[in-house]
Amino acid sequence: MPLVNAKEMLEKAKAGHYAVGQFNINNLEWTKSILLTAQELNSPVILGVSEGAGKYMCGYKTVVGMVNGMLEELGITVPVALHLDHGSYEGAKKCIEAGFSSVMFDGSHYPIEENIEKTKELVATCNELGLSIEAEVGSIGGEEDGVVGAGECADPQECKMIADLGVTMLAAGIGNIHGKYPENWQGLSFDTLDAIQQLTGEMPLVLHGGTGIPADMIKKAISLGVSKINVNTECQLAFADATRKYIEEGKDLQGKGFDPRKLLAPGAEAIKATVKEKMELFGSVGKA
Ligand code: 13P
Repeated sequence: MPLVNAKEMLEKAKAGHYAVGQFNINNLEWTKSILLTAQELNSPVILGVSEGAGKYMCGYKTVVGMVNGMLEELGITVPVALHLDHGSYEGAKKCIEAGFSSVMFDGSHYPIEENIEKTKELVATCNELGLSIEAEVGSIGGEEDGVVGAGECADPQECKMIADLGVTMLAAGIGNIHGKYPENWQGLSFDTLDAIQQLTGEMPLVLHGGTGIPADMIKKAISLGVSKINVNTECQLAFADATRKYIEEGKDLQGKGFDPRKLLAPGAEAIKATVKEKMELFGSVGKA
């Protein structure tokens, strides 16, 4: 099945009280592991591409070519969206041209008026082309691609203003951060999330920083309207751990263990296991 936008899968998730995982991709192994797991579990999935990862993979056109090729060659039949993660205004335009089916425009660092103006323009383009679009209000803490956010909770009124522009999904800062959570993390602000959902109604809400959020908080967030959860670091950690183990056990020195197809296999399997665990937790298994 060709790429789809994320609208239908997220509306179904919101109505069905589960969430669709966005798993960020970094290379071929990542993409293949995520797609195969989604297919095996009959789950919809969103492949996230940050601007940094897009550059690393030789640009958005390369990413689109790789993903479209895999959908066909692997016989993927579950709904798959290819989504720009934390895009700039220019980055979003490039992805739209390159053939992504969904983009995030992260205007959260602009004053709200400018965020509204730029989001509005991109909403019009995406609507015309049948793409889905995610916007952000309030920053997500932590570091991503060298950008450090303070993690400020979103203002529910501002969320409503952005939601009313006709975006497909809305990311709101609720105390979540990218990467590992610090020991003294205060947890998610469910009061903020509740207030946002009350004002934005049916709008699917997005929870960034899915790595390391305890299962009970994930479930509560879903019950308060979160329908898309982004996971990146956890797959990276799982890949790194499995690869380190392979090397530490000296397997690369045995026979043809140095062959990348062997060397990267434990990491790829570890990504599959992580994605499976998340899809089960998010409730998207069997929802394709
Ligand atoms: P983590 O790296 O913390 O899982 O966050 C991913 C994310 O939110 C991508 O936008």
